[in-house]
Amino acid sequence: MKRIVVVGTQWGDEGKGKITDYLAQKADVVVRYQGGNNAGHTVIFNGEKHSLHLLPSGILNPQNVNIMANGMVINPSALFDELTHLKNYQLFISDRAHVTLPFHLRIDQLQETKKGERKIGTTHKGIGPTYTDKAARLGLRVAEFINPERFKAYLNRVVPEKNIEFEAFGLPLIDQDELFVAYQTYAKFMKPLVTDTSILLNQFIDQGKLILFEGAQGVLLCLDHGTYPYVTSSSPTAASVPLNCGIAPWLVEGAIGVTKAYTTRVGEGPFPSEMNDELGQEIRIKGNEFGTTTGRPRRIGWLDTVILRHTKRVSGISYLAVTLLDVLDDIAEINIVTKYLLDDKEIDYIPADVETFKQCKPIYMTVPGWHEDITNVKSFGELPKAAQAYLHEIERLVGVKIAIFSVGPDRKQTIDVINLYQ
Ligand code: GDP
Ligand code: IMO
Ligand code: MG
Repeated sequence: MKRIVVVGTQWGDEGKGKITDYLAQKADVVVRYQGGNNAGHTVIFNGEKHSLHLLPSGILNPQNVNIMANGMVINPSALFDELTHLKNYQLFISDRAHVTLPFHLRIDQLQETKKGERKIGTTHKGIGPTYTDKAARLGLRVAEFINPERFKAYLNRVVPEKNIEFEAFGLPLIDQDELFVAYQTYAKFMKPLVTDTSILLNQFIDQGKLILFEGAQGVLLCLDHGTYPYVTSSSPTAASVPLNCGIAPWLVEGAIGVTKAYTTRVGEGPFPSEMNDELGQEIRIKGNEFGTTTGRPRRIGWLDTVILRHTKRVSGISYLAVTLLDVLDDIAEINIVTKYLLDDKEIDYIPADVETFKQCKPIYMTVPGWHEDITNVKSFGELPKAAQAYLHEIERLVGVKIAIFSVGPDRKQTIDVINLYQ
């Protein structure tokens, strides 16, 4: 495969950054296709840890061309902060991506407060309000943002409307002139990087380059196929790549579904296999399960193969990359969700209505653990037999082969089972 999507198969934080960085060592181009700085992708190599939020995970490799595609929402101030301490990078930004401004963050917070108990638990990065403006045809695109006249016209058009809402809630109003001046710095900084990335990407495809499309979030957070309304405002599926990058659908050759060896979730919403016990807490500590973006403790649960089959169907997954396998090293017995029980019936799907989904009880199968440190394992054959059996069971239940597994956070702790580039 020459054009591979890296998809999160669960509720995000599956290790997409790590797997993208690993695959990027042999790739030419890395593209982020949706989301914004709600994402937090961790990449660790040579003893250094990098937390990426907006930038594609190839940004640390001077040989990779990185693209922020039209499906993204970009906070210029956050981009500036992420880029200023980096050197020797190649980056292009789509002129059609949408821009997140400070008032989008305030609206995000306001909406969450208004929802009260029904809040989503967003990252407060203004993602929902930016995509809302895009759909309402009130958004600001990068092409306009980097043109001072056009940016000013946008502010004249949109700020008075936003201020009516802020005033109604007794909140400080947006100072349009201050915002314009402050954001000129970022606009000037971004301008040389801005281009029509669809044209660029199609040229790379014509040249036969190896291209990775790096998803943010996970399929269960997809606006269409996730656990609505407890989702983000874009689609992390492989299906969203063509639209969000400006390429033909048939040019995507496959997807690698990144899957934790268990499940985590940040924010609110149903989670059938959630473990609210001591073992869950042990996994949280061992797996360092605290959000890269917000620092919130992640909710922990067993691996859920109903979710993985759902993801396989709605997104498409050619192979799996199973991460954080080492976190299960000391566990005597490991549970895997095989089906749900709903009204005394076994079901193998995620109900569309979130209230019905909340009533689903997981049906588990139990497999033995391995009680061995696997963090230095270099091949599938070196894994303890019980760990091999666990991976085989995942393959069997999901109906997809594992191409990569990962036994620690470092780039070196990544093991190929199948070469994806062949
Ligand atoms: P992403 O959002 O999908 O890129 O994932 P995050 O970076 O938010 O969260 C994954 C976390 O797991 C990060 O802290 C990684 O450093 C870490 N990680 C990734 N793979 C492994 C692994 O195989 N073992 C362990 N112990 N940690 C891992
Ligand atoms: P990466 O790319 C995990 C969650 C939030 C919240 C919901 C909506 O690191 O996997 P939003 O701010 O997008 O409106 O929040 O989605 N969420 C994530 N959870 N990993 C992420 O990204 C996430 N991005 C958003 O916690 O529940
Ligand atoms: Mg993350």
